Amino acid sequence: MTKLQKKDINISLTKNPKQKPDQSNLGFGNHFTDHMFTMEWNVDKGWYNPQIVEYAYIPMSPALISLHYGQSIFEGMKAYIANGEPVLFRPEENFKRLNQSAERLALPQIDEDFALTALKTLLEIEKDWIPTLEGTSLYIRPFMFGADEFLGVKASSNVKFIIILSPSGAYFKDGLQPNKIFVEDEYVRAVRGGTGYAKAAGNYAGSLLGQKKAEKYGYAQTLWLDGVEQKYVEEVGAMNIFFKIDGKYVTPELNGSILPGITRDSIIKLLKHNGEVVEERKISIDEIYEAADNNKLEEVFGTGTAAVISPVGELFDGKKKVVINNFETGEATTKIYNQLTGIQLGKVEDSFNWVHKVK
Ligand code: PLP
Ligand code: COI
Repeated sequence: MTKLQKKDINISLTKNPKQKPDQSNLGFGNHFTDHMFTMEWNVDKGWYNPQIVEYAYIPMSPALISLHYGQSIFEGMKAYIANGEPVLFRPEENFKRLNQSAERLALPQIDEDFALTALKTLLEIEKDWIPTLEGTSLYIRPFMFGADEFLGVKASSNVKFIIILSPSGAYFKDGLQPNKIFVEDEYVRAVRGGTGYAKAAGNYAGSLLGQKKAEKYGYAQTLWLDGVEQKYVEEVGAMNIFFKIDGKYVTPELNGSILPGITRDSIIKLLKHNGEVVEERKISIDEIYEAADNNKLEEVFGTGTAAVISPVGELFDGKKKVVINNFETGEATTKIYNQLTGIQLGKVEDSFNWVHKVK
């Protein structure tokens, strides 16, 4: 099978460019740019037909295999304008993780270099869509799904890969304001040997009932516990989680059931670079409650591409309530937020070489 290159991408530009939305009122995931990248795969042919076309509805059969059996994965990344130029943050990590998800869902591997080339080509066309107001970015959503028209349960012989772009504001309305998180001890998100480490669409479908429950109690997101003992902290709905306990940072270790967040990895590296102690280990919800009771739970924050850094101000499991740092954004959270966003926006030295120019 031939290796696809930039020159193979067929580009047909829209004749009807859309009006760009007001940057001060974007919300998250509401608006889409003029174009998208699409490519197809067939078990005999490999990947073919890479193209950039007008963002439009895609025709599909009611028997589309992934609608019925959820053979569907996605990624989330962002483009920013840093010093006047479009940039990406660690994009190769997202395509690497897309391939890890693809393997788990029996979807084909993509050529990570070509996927990045395709994204950059799309971004060159859409660069005027990258918002510049503080807290905004162009959210990038690559995704892949089984495209067979077939009702048997099997790995699809035809697959589609698409990248769409969405100018977005903060994922949480309140920006760097503390969120209230509901500790879920009834439903679980992922189990040992399951798909938790993959960015599989079905993981999110399975989390919605827990999310609704959290919202019913007035909480923004769910804190998931492990699927075996329902005792150890895993992650939040769309974020990994960090606890600052008695001067040290603790985050759940990658155990196969949590998503290996790229922001999580970046924060671990930045904290260590700052001389902090970071422990990646099992951490039980009881240890968190105990630390809170002993005034040792200093700060809690979530990390994710969409959410960036999100302070947690309160944890509640239906019985026990823990308020963190008087429901204020703490110093450590603010520092790491400024450091990460400073690197992404080209205002802080990028000593890890994480920022990629689009051109
Ligand atoms: N955990 C879940 C379930 C997520 O959906 C996300 C978002 O992508 C994360 C963690 C954070 O991952 P990343 O930092 O790579 O965005
Ligand atoms: C991201 O942070 O990119 C995510 O994928 C979160 C999302 C489910 C909105």
